[in-house]
Amino acid sequence: MTSSSSLFLLFLSLSSISLSLSSRIYPLIEEPIKPVSRISPFDTSNYGKLQLNNGLARTPQMGWNSWNFFACNINEKVIKETADALISTGLADLGYIYVNIDDCWHSLLRNLKGELKPDPKTFPSGIKAVADYIHSKGLKLGIYSDAGIFTCQVRPGSLYHENDDAELFASWGVDYLKYDNCFNLGIKPEERYPPMRDALNSTGHSIFYSICEWGVDDPALWAGSVGNSWRTTDDISDTWVSMTTIADLNDKWASYAGPGGWNDPDMLEVGNGGMTYQEYRAHFSIWALMKAPLLIGCDVRNMTAETFEILSNEEVIAVNQDPLGVQGRKVSVAENEGCSQVWAGPLSGNQLVVALWNRCSQSVTVTAKWGVLGLDESTSVSVRDLWKHENLAENVAGSFGARLDSHDCKMYIFTPATYSSVM
Ligand SMILES: *[C@@H]1O[C@H](CO)[C@@H](O)[C@H](O)[C@H]1NC(C)=O
Ligand SMILES: *[C@@H]1O[C@H](CO)[C@@H](O)[C@H](O)[C@H]1NC(C)=O
Repeated sequence: MTSSSSLFLLFLSLSSISLSLSSRIYPLIEEPIKPVSRISPFDTSNYGKLQLNNGLARTPQMGWNSWNFFACNINEKVIKETADALISTGLADLGYIYVNIDDCWHSLLRNLKGELKPDPKTFPSGIKAVADYIHSKGLKLGIYSDAGIFTCQVRPGSLYHENDDAELFASWGVDYLKYDNCFNLGIKPEERYPPMRDALNSTGHSIFYSICEWGVDDPALWAGSVGNSWRTTDDISDTWVSMTTIADLNDKWASYAGPGGWNDPDMLEVGNGGMTYQEYRAHFSIWALMKAPLLIGCDVRNMTAETFEILSNEEVIAVNQDPLGVQGRKVSVAENEGCSQVWAGPLSGNQLVVALWNRCSQSVTVTAKWGVLGLDESTSVSVRDLWKHENLAENVAGSFGARLDSHDCKMYIFTPATYSSVM
């Protein structure tokens, strides 16, 4: 939820990217691969630094958020029906337990006691009643406010009301707060976000603290001691260009993520109609590999079979929720205009997740070479395909490649047969 001027700037920068993409010529042969960085591909030097230590976010948060599909068109019926749908589809059992209400749940003015007031037309029963309903289903409720004087949709914000608002949220039984960045009076995020951390802590309730300052002040560098996750970029939109741009921006901060605090490249657009099946599969695969929050952004009451297939892929979810909690990253980009990319990361049990991603619109071969994965040349691995749900090969050594259609992404688990340190 950015102001319209920053949305306009984003649009400008995105349109210039798509222009340069479409004017490229794609060589058909595969060029040599150059490692993205000269440090270990799985640098974890900042892992676990500066933890908030509220006991939450041991793995990235999973659930649903109202914004990407509903924007301001929310009400208590939609929220409750979404909770019902998370249960009836089985998505809750797969880990999607947070039901997060975004902007527009409250009235334009505080009440006479100075408290935030749920909109009487759309939330007539109040947030506590919604929370009770969500909790009765075994799910958790998230709410939204803003580290400024207004939210992005111009409801009252929580700046200078941190303690009262945190107390109110806690009294309703809220489990999660997304804290946005509009109307912030030009005060640095480093000053505006810690007071809400302290206010939430003082309530004595465990409340997940999701920082949303759009990556403006490089939050990976300071937010680990403030929140459980921090947005690294501007808002996502339901397009290939937005999704890939955000993935690349979020990648930069990989070494700062770890249990307790995660980089947040924004919520999922899977199922909202603006991308192809292959693009949504890539979006979900890369978000899982990057240890991003998996917050569904579509109408889960009305998903297509394809949308459900993507969101319910248990093997991909397991990568995201792996207890090692190391953010996977882009480890190689071929010199064919960056079309052939390898993204990878270590998992517990000495396994690796490897994604081969075609970033261009002609089919290409993408090859992962052992060097960029941090594997010794002699190490042989077995390869499991997480989208086909099949063991593809045993005793693979040196490199592994596949042919990929336009914008597609394949995702594998590599299990070394012989011991070799990947960290
Ligand atoms: C409050 O902060 C302390 C110190 O980090 C932590 O031990 C405690 O679990 C926190 N409590 C809550 C409710 O978040
Ligand atoms: C369900 O989604 C389809 C598109 O996938 C749409 O055409 C239809 O209107 C939706 N139905 C409801 C009840 O929202």
